[in-house]
Amino acid sequence: MRMAAFLPAIAVAVSLIFVPVWGVATGRASSAKQLRFGKDGRFKILQVADMHFADGRSTPCEDVLPSQRRGCSDLNTTAFVFRMIDAEKPDLVVFTGDNIFGFDATDAAKSMDNAFSPAITSSIPWAAVLGNHDQESTLSREGVMKHIVGLKHTLSQFNPPGEIDGFGNYNLEVRGAEGSSLANKSVLNLYFLDSGDYSTVPSITGYDWIKPSQQLWFQRTSKKLQRAYVSKPMAQKAPAPGLVFFHIPLPEFASFDSSNFTGVKQEAISSPSVNSGFFATMVEAGDVKAVFTGHDHINDFCGELTGIQLCYGGGFGYHAYGKAGWARRARLITVSLGKTKRTEWGGVKSVKTWKRLDDKHFTAIDSMVLWSKTYGGNRRKKHINRA
Ligand SMILES: *[C@@H]1O[C@H](CO)[C@@H](O)[C@H](O)[C@H]1NC(C)=O
Ligand SMILES: *[C@@H]1O[C@H](CO)[C@@H](O)[C@H](O)[C@H]1NC(C)=O
Ligand SMILES: *[C@@H]1O[C@H](CO)[C@@H](O)[C@H](O)[C@H]1NC(C)=O
Repeated sequence: MRMAAFLPAIAVAVSLIFVPVWGVATGRASSAKQLRFGKDGRFKILQVADMHFADGRSTPCEDVLPSQRRGCSDLNTTAFVFRMIDAEKPDLVVFTGDNIFGFDATDAAKSMDNAFSPAITSSIPWAAVLGNHDQESTLSREGVMKHIVGLKHTLSQFNPPGEIDGFGNYNLEVRGAEGSSLANKSVLNLYFLDSGDYSTVPSITGYDWIKPSQQLWFQRTSKKLQRAYVSKPMAQKAPAPGLVFFHIPLPEFASFDSSNFTGVKQEAISSPSVNSGFFATMVEAGDVKAVFTGHDHINDFCGELTGIQLCYGGGFGYHAYGKAGWARRARLITVSLGKTKRTEWGGVKSVKTWKRLDDKHFTAIDSMVLWSKTYGGNRRKKHINRA
């Protein structure tokens, strides 16, 4: 009822105000580093889920073996981020929320400065979204997101309160390889949403959900990007693939069991208790190939539903709950371009993923293809209604 009257107003606000305001609000519209595929036709993303950073050296590790407890702190989380960055040299690091664990962080700003410091000191572009714990220290969700966008090398964006629910709803474009004919087109689209914290509707308990206002923003952004990709010059036939990042898993993450996912499920899917329809919105949009969330630290699987891969990052942080003896982990996503007839780099050919464990051998596991143009393309069949 309330939304019906509210939606037309948002539609106008999104198109007229939001895009320009974001550029001004972040103050880095022109200095922003443009993401682009490398000369090797690859773009690699490191997903860091649930660091749960607090106060650093004085913050102990949770759920490690008794033999690992001594000398284990938030600094092990920092060391793991550095280990991942040094070994994998990602083009972008995405922090999918619960970056800090507010209850135990004495000073939210300081905790965030430390939590994100490996990406900052490595000068790697990074993006963050909020989880349900980031606001539990000395800053509100708005304050946390404002602090994040002021940090070095981040491509995170703040959207002012009011028109769109949440504080970190934004998208990033990844251009084709330099020198190729798609050099000025976004060949890969990354969407970031604020999945909120807890329900504020008295009759509904549990976690928050992705609101209609955010879905409308996503729809309009996706449509705009798709239109640009299929328009001249270098008009493309199918939309550029999209990858979506947020914190709290959708109810659809419960659609799988070990017969049809890769990875493990060791705890319940902690999605909101209502389904706000974002999965259907993404299927309808047609460009999204995979969704990456965190939140459930000891689930780390990917499963495909209706052409979209739903993936967990797997718990990363040592101050986050976990499972003693089950290594902390991170997800990597490599997107590869295909070659055109002229042997020049073209659009995206495949999206692959795997995980690395913070164990002695830095073990890589569960390598899989999430999407590929030849295998997948747009596999939605045309439905002919004969009735
Ligand atoms: C935490 O870091 C310390 C110092 O580098 C190291 O000795 C210890 O093995 C690490 N603990 C775990 C569980 O990785
Ligand atoms: C991309 O844009 C740059 C700068 O405007 C231009 O020099 C270049 O020719 C463009 N490349 C293509 C393939 O359109
Ligand atoms: C996965 O397999 C189970 C049966 O083992 C089935 O109930 C479920 O619908 C399957 N999910 C998908 C997304 O195919």
